[in-house]
Amino acid sequence: MAMSEQWLVKSVKDLDPVLKHMKELLKVGDIVLFRGEVGAGKTTLINHFAKALGIDNSNSPTFAIHNLYQTSDVKIHHLDLYRISNEEDLESTGLADFMADKNSIVFIEWPERLVKSQLPRQRRVFELSIKLKNDDREIFWREV
Ligand SMILES: Nc1ncnc2c1ncn2[C@@H]1O[C@H](COP(=O)(O)OP(=O)(O)OP(=O)(O)O)[C@@H](O)[C@H]1O
Ligand SMILES: [Mg+2]
Repeated sequence: MAMSEQWLVKSVKDLDPVLKHMKELLKVGDIVLFRGEVGAGKTTLINHFAKALGIDNSNSPTFAIHNLYQTSDVKIHHLDLYRISNEEDLESTGLADFMADKNSIVFIEWPERLVKSQLPRQRRVFELSIKLKNDDREIFWREV
């Protein structure tokens, strides 16, 4: 599979090839950093990914700092670090433990809040960046 990918997304429907790519590639133990400005569509994409796995997350609040999506095959921790400003926050909220869970896939919104050394070591780390472009979105995928 290619190291990096890029998609033009004009509607939610156009997320399908992105979701397919993620489903084929991601394995337990992987980490995905979701980058993009406020309103870029990070949470929306993650919710659609969970739905594509058959998980009903319609009740998950979009502003929660942690959501867990689980099937019989896979567990996904979805962390939103927007309000995290230091190491102590990361520990006291329990987010550090979720991030360290090797038996899961970890999705991180606002990874800018972390310094590189706070990411778990020896894990595959991918980056998904969403750029707003007029009414459309561009999504970039790469391993980091
Ligand atoms: N692919 C898309 N196509 C059309 N509309 C979208 C798409 N992705 C997101 N949106 C719309 O943009 C709005 C903001 O999306 P979302 O909450 O996912 O952004 P976010 O990147 O998670 O923002 P934040 O940084 O505040 O968490 C949503 O209300 C959603 O309807
Ligand atoms: Mg969000």
